[in-house]
Amino acid sequence: MEEDRLRRQHSAELTDEKEPTMTVHHRPECLVDDRPADKAFHVSRDAFTDAEIFDLEMKHIFEATWSFVGLESQIPRPHDYVTTFIGRQPVLLMRDGEGRIGCFLNTCRHRATVVCPFKRGRQKFHVCRYHGWAYDSAGKNIAVTDREDGQYPAGFDGADRDLVPVARLDSYRGLIFASLSADVPSLPEYLDDARTFIDLVADQSPVGQLEFVPGDITYTFDANWKLQFENGLDYYHFASTHSSYVDILAQRVKSGDTVGFTSEQPDEVEGQGSFNFKNGHAVNWSIKRQMRYGRALAADPAGLAEVKSRVGDIRLKWMLRQRNLTIFPNLQIIDISSAQLRTWRPLSVDKTEMTSHCLAPVGESADARRFRIRAYEDFFNPSGLATSDDNVMYEFCQTGYAAQAGDTLGHLRGLEPMGVAGDHVSELGISPVEYAFGKPGFGGETNFHSGYREWRRLLELATKGANNA
Ligand code: FES
Repeated sequence: MEEDRLRRQHSAELTDEKEPTMTVHHRPECLVDDRPADKAFHVSRDAFTDAEIFDLEMKHIFEATWSFVGLESQIPRPHDYVTTFIGRQPVLLMRDGEGRIGCFLNTCRHRATVVCPFKRGRQKFHVCRYHGWAYDSAGKNIAVTDREDGQYPAGFDGADRDLVPVARLDSYRGLIFASLSADVPSLPEYLDDARTFIDLVADQSPVGQLEFVPGDITYTFDANWKLQFENGLDYYHFASTHSSYVDILAQRVKSGDTVGFTSEQPDEVEGQGSFNFKNGHAVNWSIKRQMRYGRALAADPAGLAEVKSRVGDIRLKWMLRQRNLTIFPNLQIIDISSAQLRTWRPLSVDKTEMTSHCLAPVGESADARRFRIRAYEDFFNPSGLATSDDNVMYEFCQTGYAAQAGDTLGHLRGLEPMGVAGDHVSELGISPVEYAFGKPGFGGETNFHSGYREWRRLLELATKGANNA
C-alpha cells in the first residue's frame, strides 16, 4: 500500500544523521493518505488515539489558526464578558467601557492565575483572586496590590503588566473569531464561501443579527474531537444512528402534526450534496420535497413572507434546506428544524468538551421562537434525541479505533462522482473547491476531506518547521 511505502521511505529518512523531531507515525502524509488521482483517502487510526499527535494538533492547529470564541450578542453592553478557550489556552472576551470588543489571554501577569474564573458576566474590573492585581475591561492593569511596599526592582513600573491580547480578532455577522497566531489570513479570506452559509442563517433575522437562546449546555464525551468534526458533516449516519427520531417524525407526520411545514420547495431533483471550501470548511445539505420536520422560519407565515420578500426565492429555498456547516477547526452550525451552534474544546486525545447553543435570528416572532426552542430540545439538547445518540457512537468509535486493524474505509463514499450537475453552485454565487451531489440517501464522505487536508497542511507546516530547526 502507498501508506506502507511512505512509512518505509520516512523510516529511511529518519536514519540520517539529522536528529528527527517527529516520529514516523506523526508524519502528516502518513496520517492522512490523500491521493486524489488514485481515488484514495484514508485517515490513520493514530490520528484519533495518539497523545503526541493530540499535542501537535493543539499547538499547530487550534493555537495556530482562527477559532470561534463567541457571539457579539453574548456581550451586548460595555463591560460584558464571556470566557472560553483557544486550544488549551484560556481567553477572556469582553467589551470595554467604549463598547469595543477585546480578547485577552485569561491569565494574570503576576503569577498566572486565571483572572476571570466565571463563564460570563459583567464587570468593570477584574481583580485577580490570588494577590489582588486588578485589570479594567480593556485589559489594562490598573492596580498592583501594595505596590509601594513591594521593593520592586527598577524597571518594574515600565514593564507591560496588561492582559495579553490575542494576536488577531475579527468578526463576521456577529460571530467572533480569534487567533493566537498573527500569521493567518484575514478572517473574510479564511472563512471563504462558508460566509454564504453564515449569511443564510443571519439573514433570517429582520435585522440581520444572531443570538443564542439562553441556556447553553456544556458536556464531555470520551472520544477524540475529530469524531464530532466528522459527525456534523456526516449525513450517512442519520437514519441508522437516529432511527428512533426518524420513527417519531414519521408518527408525527401521520398524526397530522405538520407545524412549520412549508410548500416553499421548488420542484427540483431531490438529493443530498456538499460543498468543500478553502481552509477546511465544508457544508452538507439536502433537497427534499417531502418534509419530515418543520422549520422555525416557516412556523410563522408572516415572518416567512417577510424573509422571502427581502432575500428572494433562491436564498429562501436554501434557508429552508437542511444545512450542516463546519468552520474548521471548532465550529458547527446546523440549521434544520431549529438551529444549533456547537463548539468544542479538545481536552485530551480521548476526551472532548462540547458546548451547544440554540442559535436564533434576532427579531423572529414568538411563534417561530417557540417552535425553535421545542425543536432544539427535541433533537439537539443533550436531553434530546440526537446528542446522546451521537455521543455513544463517538465513544464506540474511540474504543474501536484502538484496535490495530489498519486504516478504516470511512472517507471514501462519494469519491466516484455521479456526474449529476445542477445550479447549486451558480445560484449561490460560490466557488467551492469541491462539490458533491447524489441521491437522497447519498451521505458522501468527501466533505470530511477539506478539514483533513487543512489538518494535514497545518501539521506539515509544523513538521517542516521542526525538521528545519
Ligand atoms: Fe494574580 Fe498574583 S497571581 S495577583
